[in-house]
Amino acid sequence: MTFTELCKRVRKHIGQDHRYAHCVRVARMAENLARIHGADPSKARTAGMLHDLARLYSGEGLLEECRRRGVPISDFERAHPIVLHAPLSAELAQTEFGVSDPAILSAIAKHTLAASEMSVLDCVLYLADGLEPGRDYAERASLAEMAERDLPGAMRATIESSLRYLSSKHLPLAPQTAAAIKAFGAHIMMEATTGGHS
Ligand SMILES: [Fe+2]
Ligand SMILES: [Fe+2]
Repeated sequence: MTFTELCKRVRKHIGQDHRYAHCVRVARMAENLARIHGADPSKARTAGMLHDLARLYSGEGLLEECRRRGVPISDFERAHPIVLHAPLSAELAQTEFGVSDPAILSAIAKHTLAASEMSVLDCVLYLADGLEPGRDYAERASLAEMAERDLPGAMRATIESSLRYLSSKHLPLAPQTAAAIKAFGAHIMMEATTGGHS
């Protein structure tokens, strides 16, 4: 399948112009960051295009589809099903879009919560998703600029930025994100609780 064909299929699967446009911007930015930081630009572009396949599913739909397909569901994910769109999108990329490359599937699965161990490709997709030009918040442009010159620094700063967001919304911290905080040396400047309660 060519990339153009892939885009057409993703557009149809997602069924919403707004979300599809986000995927296009993430694919572009991921491709650019991959080129700068020595990851495979083509894999980054594919991961960007496919990363939100399940983003518009309802909470109940995510839980049901994960159960049906045998995607593991943690306590945190059961309490906050929205985050399941990442592993479920990886599952759909594999089964519905024929992607078998574990590096691409890993990047998709980790794009929302991050993880303790992240490859350059994983980081590139995580940053592209959070920092693409369609996102509208004060620090975005400076973080996007940092992502081009300092990948670990941008990971640290972007994770810290998302912690401030979680804190402002009184949202809990996922165990995977807590592990990523340690791995990247990010500082917790919030009173978030860890675990599956909010
Ligand atoms: Fe997402
Ligand atoms: Fe996204």
